[in-house]
Amino acid sequence: MTVRILFVCLGNICRSPLAEAALRAEAERLGLDVEVDSAGTGDWHVGQPPDRRAIAAARRNGADIARFRARLVEARDFDRFDHIVALDRDNLAGLKRIQPAGSRARLSLLLDHVEGREGEAVADPYYGEESDFDTAWNDVVDGARALANRIAAR
Ligand code: 4NP
Repeated sequence: MTVRILFVCLGNICRSPLAEAALRAEAERLGLDVEVDSAGTGDWHVGQPPDRRAIAAARRNGADIARFRARLVEARDFDRFDHIVALDRDNLAGLKRIQPAGSRARLSLLLDHVEGREGEAVADPYYGEESDFDTAWNDVVDGARALANRIAAR
């Protein structure tokens, strides 16, 4: 059965596209049947490709996110996806505020899935430097690997 996972950050141009790419790679490695997408809680970049520094960080790690386009998280996502995974606490709180009553998606924080990293955020690299995008990549791989292993173990 297909497991549907949506990653959510603020702009949907840095962290959540990286998380989407990382989970796609892990799922492929494990042969998992997943549908993966990403979205943002803020609308500034809707319709735009990922930040060029995120595209470059993904490329350095063998992933192509250049064709992704930013979109807003929407009410129907809470019924379309099994898991909606926030990249930080602010976005998790935002998701909790807009989750329609009775919808089925389970909300979580990405690094809560990683033993020893519970409660940690994937830091927003938008106002940072290239190295901050590599840190974000490493963090989302940590989370994606843990998530993929959990799905594989079901
Ligand atoms: P993201 O990064 O949430 O990881 O996509 C950001 C992108 C854009 C903005 C903030 C964070 N912004 O303020 O426009």
